[in-house]
Amino acid sequence: MKIRYAILALAVMTLGAQAAERNIATMRGKTPIEVTANPPRMPQVQNLDVRRPRDYPMQPPTIPHKVDEYQVDLNTNKCLSCHSRRRVEESQAPMVSVTHYMDRDGNFLAEVSPRRYFCNQCHVIQTNARPMVETTFEDIDAILGRKTKRQ
Ligand code: HEC
Ligand code: HEC
Repeated sequence: MKIRYAILALAVMTLGAQAAERNIATMRGKTPIEVTANPPRMPQVQNLDVRRPRDYPMQPPTIPHKVDEYQVDLNTNKCLSCHSRRRVEESQAPMVSVTHYMDRDGNFLAEVSPRRYFCNQCHVIQTNARPMVETTFEDIDAILGRKTKRQ
């Protein structure tokens, strides 16, 4: 039993050391365990009102404005007060696309489908936080561009 715990402890320590090396997965960073770490500054929500590019056609666009205190529950949907079909003239917000009116069988409903009611399930704000890990994602256009050049 004791040996098992020792192995477990060793595994945890090794993982901890690895995480510290890469400086991820721990908010403590390089601060030693007995010192209180200075918490990083809270990231700011980007509120530039400029629509961002989409990385692929099916990507839910990210939200280019603040959504603090925008209530979305059974009785109220603050997002739809600007983004619904009848509100866009007044708000000048882009209308939710037609997919938001489709049920799972592809029928078009008169109202936004319950599947697309909780907007924040798919649409997210962006902050100015530094990415914790790098990404190697490439846009399909970049890949296709490389291919055509080679031919
Ligand atoms: C007060 C009106 C208003 C409210 C409320 C609002 N929006 Fe917006 N939204 C806009 C406007 C206007 C734009 C166009 C860009 C801009 O001005 O920020 C926009 C842009 C967007 C976009 C980008 C669309 C694209 O094609 O890139 C998304 C996604 C979005 N809003 C989602 C939401 C969600 C989710 C909520 C609720 C949590 C919400 N919005 C609440 C007015 C609003
Ligand atoms: C299940 C995921 C999902 C939910 C929930 C959802 N959306 Fe979307 N939304 C998407 C996807 C995917 C797209 C891009 C492709 C498309 O139009 O279907 C999109 C596109 C949009 C666009 C851009 C439309 C355009 O024509 O440029 C707006 C604005 C938007 N959504 C707002 C909302 C709002 C407001 C809600 C809540 C009432 C909502 N969405 C709920 C997935 C979702």
